[in-house]
Amino acid sequence: GTRKPWGGRFEEATDAFVEAFTASVDFDRRLYAHDIAGSIAHARMLARAGVLGEADAEAIVRGLEALRAEIEAGRFTWSVALEDVHMNIEARLTERIGEAGKRLHTGRSRNDQVATDLRLWLREQIDAIDAEIGRLQEGLVALAEREADTVMPGYTHLQVAQPVTFGHHLMAWFEMLRRDRDRLADCRRRVNVMPLGAAALAGTTFPIDRAYTAGLLGFDGVCENSLDAVSDRDFAIEFVSCCALLMVHLSRMAEELVLWASPHIGFVRLPDRFCTGSSIMPQKKNPDVPELVRGKCGRVQGHLVALLTLMKGQPLAYNKDNQEDKEPVFDTVDQVLGSVRAFADLVPALEPDRGRMRAAAREGFATATDLADYLVRKGVPFRDAHEIVGRAVRHAQAEGCDLADLPLETLRGFSEAIDEDVREVLTLDGAVAARDHIGGTAPAQVRAACARARAWLAAR
Ligand code: ARG
Repeated sequence: GTRKPWGGRFEEATDAFVEAFTASVDFDRRLYAHDIAGSIAHARMLARAGVLGEADAEAIVRGLEALRAEIEAGRFTWSVALEDVHMNIEARLTERIGEAGKRLHTGRSRNDQVATDLRLWLREQIDAIDAEIGRLQEGLVALAEREADTVMPGYTHLQVAQPVTFGHHLMAWFEMLRRDRDRLADCRRRVNVMPLGAAALAGTTFPIDRAYTAGLLGFDGVCENSLDAVSDRDFAIEFVSCCALLMVHLSRMAEELVLWASPHIGFVRLPDRFCTGSSIMPQKKNPDVPELVRGKCGRVQGHLVALLTLMKGQPLAYNKDNQEDKEPVFDTVDQVLGSVRAFADLVPALEPDRGRMRAAAREGFATATDLADYLVRKGVPFRDAHEIVGRAVRHAQAEGCDLADLPLETLRGFSEAIDEDVREVLTLDGAVAARDHIGGTAPAQVRAACARARAWLAAR
């Protein structure tokens, strides 16, 4: 086989299957740009510390930059024999620049290198996900502003409960995403700490300046303990955990969109360009995008469990097990970015059917609580009011009409406290407008919530 960078103590070539089995280059080459950035910073630090000659450092930096161009032009040949992205790049560097390339790995190990690469890469992905969630939130606020007066049924137990506005419902989604972004921002603080300098596990005998390297790479600080630095994958678990919860939110939105798009409910239409058809049933238009997002949620939750399980039995410090951290993290990023993007594109294109929503809110006695509250304002204790309205509902149900359709004399039969002014209370618009406090569904409150949301978005 090929001579390995670690071949000195070996008597025979690596078994061909073992070589392929232990290699990670097929997936970790994705870290190439961050591996190169880390190596450039490391070389500069070594030169500054006097460990590496200026000319060698210069050759290394230029060589790595040329290599980056080579990779981006698709002219780089990745070799499984060289195991991973780190050894591929180092070997090619030496091939290009000679002796100096062999000095790059002074005072470091692939153990601190890979942890650094993954953190650099993840930091960038967190920023990309954050921006995409922001785009989805912008779409939600814009739609919520337009639908601040649109009455729809609010549910508990999926039974009609009280009327709400469609805008209010959309802003509930906004809040879930706000927490997701806050969680990701908090996670980023722990991602953005530099392991480099831990070397294999114990640190290095060279006079390194970790703070300097960290500054070059934009890290907020350095990992305090070398054993922890190379063995910690909490940051990856935390990240996937934030994503798993984000996906739960997207999945719940997806579920509602699928329900709303069903012809039985018909609250929204999804534009054709976001739907697909059936290969057998000519009439079908299926909400595949939200369904797929709901499905991908399960996949990301699987990644979280995989990472937790990966770490649970590992003694300090580095173990090869850790190579298994990358695929779940990479796939999490891919699925999350795709899902958020799909929703960010879809939300502004939703076509709400205000008539269907209002008609649905008229069924199911959505204003029954309003009638009870009305009686309370007339001096009736709430428990009695509840009982009175319950009987009125039973009567209306038997008549096949809504509370608002009962004649005043009939209503007064249930309570003398009921008067002509009850009419306003029994309307859907009256019911939503009456919930007029922070967090309530009154259109004025929804508009105020949208304005605060816009200010929050602008400040991020
Ligand atoms: N490919 C390895 C990984 O992903 C890099 C570190 C390897 N270190 C080692 N001592 N084998 O974790």
